[in-house]
Amino acid sequence: MHQFHYRDGILHCEDVNLQLLAAEHGTPLYVYSANTLRENYQRLDQALTGLDHHIAYAVKANSNLSVLRLLAGLGSGFDIVSGGELFRVIKAGGNPALCSFAGVGKTAEEITYALEQGIYCFNIESLAELEFISSVAGNISTVAPVALRINPNVDAGTHKYISTGKAENKFGIDHESVREVYARASKLPHIQIRGIQMHIGSQLTSATPFVEAVERVLPLVSDLQASHDLEFFSIGGGIGIVYEEALASGPPDWWTRQEEPPLSPEVYAHHLVPLLESLNLKILLEPGRYMSGNAGILLTTCLYEKKGQAKAFKIVDAGMNDLIRPALYDGHHEIVTVRECDVTNRITADVVGPICESGDFFCQDREVPDFAKGELVALMSAGAYSFTMASNYNSRPLPAEILVSGATAQIARERQTFTDLVAGEH
Ligand code: LLP
Repeated sequence: MHQFHYRDGILHCEDVNLQLLAAEHGTPLYVYSANTLRENYQRLDQALTGLDHHIAYAVKANSNLSVLRLLAGLGSGFDIVSGGELFRVIKAGGNPALCSFAGVGKTAEEITYALEQGIYCFNIESLAELEFISSVAGNISTVAPVALRINPNVDAGTHKYISTGKAENKFGIDHESVREVYARASKLPHIQIRGIQMHIGSQLTSATPFVEAVERVLPLVSDLQASHDLEFFSIGGGIGIVYEEALASGPPDWWTRQEEPPLSPEVYAHHLVPLLESLNLKILLEPGRYMSGNAGILLTTCLYEKKGQAKAFKIVDAGMNDLIRPALYDGHHEIVTVRECDVTNRITADVVGPICESGDFFCQDREVPDFAKGELVALMSAGAYSFTMASNYNSRPLPAEILVSGATAQIARERQTFTDLVAGEH
């Protein structure tokens, strides 16, 4: 699942000693394992052997150029949601012809840029957007390849902020109207219908909602195939990861707890391949978190301990601006010390950052190692939706990012400086 493990009492990423890495680059520091990314990609790809498929990594999960370059090298396509993401993919050597552009609010500038770069497909989220893309394509005398995103109205059973396939969500075109919108698309001169797409949500830990959504959409897909020239069916992303079993090597049982059962690529494929293989369409997948989530961690240093009247606090040098998932989604990130410590020496505490908000926490009332000032600590499973959601709030420079491969650690992004903080300001 990942390559963070203790060796000689020190947490390593692959063959790199994280204590030495933090001493060299400072904290907070994001560290990614290249081999975990490679393994995740290949494992999913292999699980789908026999199905005509293509993986389009969801760039929003982790858009560092080094990560994108690695995945492009493995043959990955990309699910993008902005002109900026397309720019990153191209900069990283990715192929625009393997990019699908999703999102409910694409602008004229983004559409034009994507058309000029020759992307594979726009995933259309509304009739209004379809008409607009047709007119933008017309302005530059070209044709826009599209897929309609269908909202299958199923409950993904995940956090409400990351559930996207219910009728009340802003995403996709409802099941009832989709035929009509395809009919309209087929009449627009600057539109070429290429496929159909759906995405029901993120961090799904069971195959059931995927199966339910595919089963709901399949009759429609077959119908549409009869009247339109479909090339692909994208079943979106959403494969969940295990956040509460961050370390591969045990045994302390609090690391091997599995409160969220893993939805492995094999289980996912086992349920979905039989439904999809007879379709005679290319199946696209858009995994983000699955690919990079457990491939990264955030290293942080304990600045102070504070015993409040009601609680014990451990104050670390990373804040909610660096990793917002706990504050925004009650996201769980396992917290471990880089020095392997006595597992009985634990305390119930809040691990918090320096930001001036009470929402600035990495855990609340959780049993964590009883670490003290100066201790180097790892927030696990921070390879997806972590750096990409970071901000400069409280005028804090963004952390550096390191990509480890074997015994080599490369700077994937420099730490921001105070000068970077005010760049472009007047
Ligand atoms: N495709 C589409 C159309 C999406 O909207 C998303 C994610 C994905 C694919 C990739 O989903 P994944 O395989 O990563 O679950 N910031 C949140 C997650 C937001 C997901 C947004 N859309 C978090 O930290 O949990």
